[in-house]
Amino acid sequence: MQPIRIGILGTGTVGGGTVKLLQANAAEITRRLGCSVLVSRAASRNLERAQRICGTDVHLSTDVMDVVNAEDVDIVVELIGGTTIAKEAVIQAIKNGKHVVTANKKLLAEYGNEIFALAAEHNVMLMFEAAVAGGIPIIKALREGLAANRIQSIAGIINGTSNFILSEMRAHGSAFQSVLKQAQELGYAEADPTFDIEGHDAAHKLSIMSALAFGTPINYTHCYLEGISKLESQDIRYAEELGYRIKLLGITRRCEKGIELRVHPTLIPETRLLANVEGVMNAVLVQADMVGQTMYYGPGAGAAPTASAWWLTSWMWRD
Ligand code: HSE
Repeated sequence: MQPIRIGILGTGTVGGGTVKLLQANAAEITRRLGCSVLVSRAASRNLERAQRICGTDVHLSTDVMDVVNAEDVDIVVELIGGTTIAKEAVIQAIKNGKHVVTANKKLLAEYGNEIFALAAEHNVMLMFEAAVAGGIPIIKALREGLAANRIQSIAGIINGTSNFILSEMRAHGSAFQSVLKQAQELGYAEADPTFDIEGHDAAHKLSIMSALAFGTPINYTHCYLEGISKLESQDIRYAEELGYRIKLLGITRRCEKGIELRVHPTLIPETRLLANVEGVMNAVLVQADMVGQTMYYGPGAGAAPTASAWWLTSWMWRD
């Protein structure tokens, strides 16, 4: 069988992690797929870094369109982030009839409705497991595992950076800014960490999950938003004295008037599982009518967990 040829856009934390994963698990991936997967092209702002990551066999370019328009690319993997170049590249890839894998929650939250419609029109797959809750296969769970249920609500810790900050502040009394810096160094935070600490990133992910769970269009702009930047160490300490932990939760549920979407710091009794999800770990609690409550737990950010997520989905459609 011919190898599957991947074109990677972006060689930052997740892009680099994806290339490494493909190299490290090449034999296992080939065994499962029945054919090999090779990175034929990559686009990066930093060609030196790209070459260090990809080696000399990969055709490198600073122009994403060199990848998106290339004949020797079957799947475009968009790992740039944001809604400018990434959006143009994803749209062009779809128009070129290429399958797309993206970890870009902002792009999907803001333009997902039109991009999914375009993908359907061009009969290509748009896969996005890595966009929500890092390494947790929550998209697959919502789309398939829970498909026979009527979902009532979802509540989740879905931003690794803010959970890491809150955990470190509580456990070690660390200062907000120094933990944020650590999260950036560990590759957890967004390029602009305001998205993490002000709740936008969680709202992006929540609006994607909500649309899947309730069968509605993605509705990010109506999400109530409050981040963790105004929390102080003493808030966390007082909560602890009262038997609670403070977590940044994304909550979506059916209510009388429609669907509720909100992201804000929440007091959770310390005996609850969610309260004990610490560090960069994420957890998503789903309430559904037939199965009842299920919870999904795993690393929510970082190169390897995020890189691992998209394979779960891209494997599925290979015929
Ligand atoms: N900045 C994100 C987070 C990365 O901390 O959760 C994973 O989406």
